[in-house]
Amino acid sequence: KILVLDFGSQVTQLIARRVREAGVYCEIVPFNLAADIIDSFNPTGIILSGGPASVTHSDTPRAPEKVFTLGVPVLGICYGQQTMVQQLGGNVTTSDHQEFGHADIEIKEECQLFDGIGTVGDRKVVWMSHGDHVDALPAGFKTIAASEGAPYAAISDEDRQFYGVQFHPEVAHTTIGTALIGNFIKKICACKGDWTMASFREEKIKEIREQVGDKKVICGLSGGVDSSVVAVLIHEAIGDQLTCVYVDHGLMRAGESDQVVSLFREHYNINLVHKDASDLFLGELAGVTDPEKKRKIIGKLFIDVFEEEAQAVGGADFLAQGTLYPDVIESVSFIGGPSVTIKSHHNVGGLPERMNMQLVEPLRELFKDEVRALGRELGLHEDFVGRHPFPGPGLAIRIPGEITREKADILRKADAIYLEEIRKAGLYDDIWQAFAVLLPVKTVGVMGDSRTYDHVCAIRAVNSTDGMTANYYPYPHDFLGRVATRIINEVRGINRVVYDITSKPPGTIEWE
Ligand code: XMP
Repeated sequence: KILVLDFGSQVTQLIARRVREAGVYCEIVPFNLAADIIDSFNPTGIILSGGPASVTHSDTPRAPEKVFTLGVPVLGICYGQQTMVQQLGGNVTTSDHQEFGHADIEIKEECQLFDGIGTVGDRKVVWMSHGDHVDALPAGFKTIAASEGAPYAAISDEDRQFYGVQFHPEVAHTTIGTALIGNFIKKICACKGDWTMASFREEKIKEIREQVGDKKVICGLSGGVDSSVVAVLIHEAIGDQLTCVYVDHGLMRAGESDQVVSLFREHYNINLVHKDASDLFLGELAGVTDPEKKRKIIGKLFIDVFEEEAQAVGGADFLAQGTLYPDVIESVSFIGGPSVTIKSHHNVGGLPERMNMQLVEPLRELFKDEVRALGRELGLHEDFVGRHPFPGPGLAIRIPGEITREKADILRKADAIYLEEIRKAGLYDDIWQAFAVLLPVKTVGVMGDSRTYDHVCAIRAVNSTDGMTANYYPYPHDFLGRVATRIINEVRGINRVVYDITSKPPGTIEWE
């Protein structure tokens, strides 16, 4: 197993992800806590992450000396390479030649790190992001690859099995990165690579049992992938000590509430409170048109209702959340040690503080596709695991302008037809997110012999990897035509359908 020491890089979690992809267990620890856990963790290899500081300043982070005396292979990445070099007697300088983005490295020496990647003289594209660079190697080290801005782009001391790279092998732009990290952990550290999601499941179950003991856990279940996986995992760990609360704000999609209740209550036998709070939510939302106000009202009511229901079942000591790694922004500040700032899950922000409960967040290290893999491992139905993302505020942010129950009903019908056609055409898994929007605009139409004056429905579909950027989905025109015809014919209240071909940026995925 591999220990990753975090020096505060934005992409440290990607290192962990690459290690997991190679089938090896790994954990990340902040650099300043590493000394305490190294012995008990007993790593087969250590990776030092990048970080925003400069080793040329004396008060910046260093690796505990133990890292270099333990006798296990060490790979330093960017800042990790620089601190390794400096701590072992080499030198690092701040240069004028900074490198950000793509750079070419040339392999200078044969090295296990480059097994199957290239041989001496080959040039490879890597991704760099550094101002400082190594300018003198410690004794025992040699250069194995160089770039224009980093004469010591990759270095090694094969006797001690210390390796360093100035570039970032963990990011996707470094196409040789997966192979390089694989070489480090499998060839150099000789890890077996038999770790799987099944092992993750076992470990998490053990951890949850240890954390929770015989106490009670409460979990907000929305039916989305993340909360569904959390609920099933925790239920597997502690059974009836878990209670899930499904707050139905009346702005869910067609049939969704029934589906959630029957799956979790009947199939999984999970204690599930289904609270129909649609009157409350729709009442408070009446007349509200500002998107941020809608979100705030929904967020606050969600917390109120959740808290009430939690008390009604006798309270709990722990709150389970489906926080994923991208929901967690960790920044390591070097003034007075690292501090971790966390952006909590945007749907339940503020809840843990208010309810004074400890958090159980078993998915914190995972990326979305890993959560899906875990869901499949847990036997969750593909309908849940492969689900498109659905925002916490639900249809509220898909009804620009004032929300009414009538509008929500109209939108639900249109959305259901649209998604049914997507599934029928076999496109669902090819699309990242698809939904209908009910516009606060009425236009004139003609149906039969009469004039209509009804709403416009916009349909949207995008592809994305993380929701941060997105492209609109290029449907065939006949598909769009079919969806429009069905919605207009079958949904009273809509007489016109348009397709949104805006990408993000400059648009956002949702309309509000
Ligand atoms: P935008 O519209 O910002 O959406 O491009 C990016 C992704 O986030 C989802 N989204 C939300 N999810 N609460 C959520 O839980 C929200 O308030 C919210 N707003 C947007 C959106 O569906 C898309 O997947």
